Amino acid sequence: MYKIIEKRELAPGIKLIKVLAPEIAKKAKAGQFVILRVDKTGERIPLTLADWDQKEGTITLVFLEVGVSTKKLGRLNKDDVILNLLGPLGNPTEVKDYGSVCVVGGGVGIAAAYPIARALKEAGNKIVSIIGARSANLLIFEDEMKEYSDEIYISTDDGTKGYKGFVSDLLKDLLVKGYKFDMVYAVGPALMMRAVADVTRPYKIKTIVSLNPIMVDGMGMCGACRVIVGGKTRFTCVDGPEFDAHEVDFTELVRRQRAFIEEEKKALEIFERGELL
Ligand code: NAD
Ligand code: FES
Repeated sequence: MYKIIEKRELAPGIKLIKVLAPEIAKKAKAGQFVILRVDKTGERIPLTLADWDQKEGTITLVFLEVGVSTKKLGRLNKDDVILNLLGPLGNPTEVKDYGSVCVVGGGVGIAAAYPIARALKEAGNKIVSIIGARSANLLIFEDEMKEYSDEIYISTDDGTKGYKGFVSDLLKDLLVKGYKFDMVYAVGPALMMRAVADVTRPYKIKTIVSLNPIMVDGMGMCGACRVIVGGKTRFTCVDGPEFDAHEVDFTELVRRQRAFIEEEKKALEIFERGELL
């Protein structure tokens, strides 16, 4: 059992929880994730670490309430407990001094991009961050990202804050203006990561993305998280979650992410009628 010691709503439908998990906090590194199960009927959901504190023995998770599991998680409050928490999982971000790195975060993915930006900044890189959301009220972790960014650019799809358009459009703008990056990191929805990869490809900038497929065991045994990278099948949980964006088959990733969309919709309807606990 893992106790929630803090809970905040960062934006409509986006929640932050701080969970007491000293064993995970002790080993956590940027880019890693956990798999949790809210209760005994819950499914296993992967969440990238947004932060951790070794002294306090806590990890911080940020999630968007989209389906039954994340809505169940969102209903928990301070002092409630999560049944299972497994982690840290996945390979950490390869942190070294690359030079100038652009960290791109989209939507809830900004919280997952934050520890990566921090680790890369602490390793001596110049960090140019691009963060974006659908609308100004959905933009999260702006102050956190600012703290570890030499420059920060903001976009919103509707133009309510910063540049009007997608984060990938803003990245393209910077590149057209002559910005030079040794590396680009992108975390967010699959379509955003694909768009970022398409922008950096002609410039031949090494681009890393953190993939978010459906996961079950998180240990390389079930195959649920398989993705195609460079024409080969890879398991995101043990081979990733970070991969070379120019090698990822995003069409296949999106297809697999949507595999249970009808079942997820039905489950949510039942849950919202109060028939599924
Ligand atoms: P969203 O749909 O609101 O999009 C956020 C931003 O991403 C947009 O403002 C835009 O700038 C960009 N974007 C979205 N679609 C795009 C497209 N087609 N082309 C170019 N840019 C695009 O995101 P959300 O609702 O916050 O959803 C967050 C998503 O991030 C979820 O799918 C979640 O699974 C994923 N996520 C991934 C990780 C990870 O580790 N990869 C971590 C957390 C969240
Ligand atoms: Fe089962 Fe990766 S989640 S193999």
